Amino acid sequence: MRFEVGGEIATITMDRPEKRNAQTFATWSALARIGRNLPGHVRVVVIRGEGPSFSAGIDLRMFTTAPGQGSFASVAALDTDALLERVTEAQQGFLWLRRPDIVSIAVVQGHAIGAGFQLALSCDLRILADDAKFCMKEPALGLVPDLTGTKPLVELVGVAKAVEICLTARTVEAEEALRLGLAERVVPRERLDEAVGELAAALLTTDRDAAAATKRLLLGAAARTLEEQSAAERAEQAVRLRTLFGGERAARGD
Ligand code: ACO
Repeated sequence: MRFEVGGEIATITMDRPEKRNAQTFATWSALARIGRNLPGHVRVVVIRGEGPSFSAGIDLRMFTTAPGQGSFASVAALDTDALLERVTEAQQGFLWLRRPDIVSIAVVQGHAIGAGFQLALSCDLRILADDAKFCMKEPALGLVPDLTGTKPLVELVGVAKAVEICLTARTVEAEEALRLGLAERVVPRERLDEAVGELAAALLTTDRDAAAATKRLLLGAAARTLEEQSAAERAEQAVRLRTLFGGERAARGD
């Protein structure tokens, strides 16, 4: 995993292309650590994978290696509290990507399977190369998707389409992903960097605090009634107005 910061943009690169960026508990710990230590000035977080594929999902060695080597057998041997804690820790690698003070972008080329698909789903936005392929493979392997991907999937495509995609474990190619709302943009592979740069630059044109407040509103909208959401808008706007114009108001003495 590489982590680079250039100005207000941080880039996380999964860097195990020879294993198609297969993920392990160490991957998720590293992601969580990056989230905890993210420099305060960073506003855009880009997640990408080196090589032909974004990520081939969970490292298949976890199905077979002996207990004690980060395998599923060793996790299954834990008592229930410890097992749930282990999954909670893994999920921490994904959850911070929705923080209101940042916008996260997954840059997906080639395959994004299982944990790879969920990592892309845990980001706010997805830019795809035209060869991108999503697959929620977990049910085919006897597992459920548990790396925080089910909620964003349902929010993006609806329950029926999410059921169909997950329970068939079929591949969703780039053009369909765009149609379903799983991608903001699909570009030829050689234009991927340019497209991400354009999106990141556009995101940085808005006011930092207004962007964070707006993202808070948007993320909270689904769980609120219209009246509650209107109240939340008023509360956020009061802070913005006081911040932007409070000084003038105070100077006039009214
Ligand atoms: N875990 C561990 N190693 C992997 C994984 C993986 N998930 N995926 C690929 N690799 C390794 C291969 O074993 C191979 O290693 P080797 O060169 O030492 O033999 C190398 O990466 C390249 O793999 P290829 O299959 O040759 O690459 P290709 O580009 O042709 O295919 C693809 C890529 C489609 C991703 C294929 O590798 C694949 O289907 N991988 C398994 C995907 C999977 O089932 N993931 C689990 C999902 S469930 C979950 O994430 C919870």
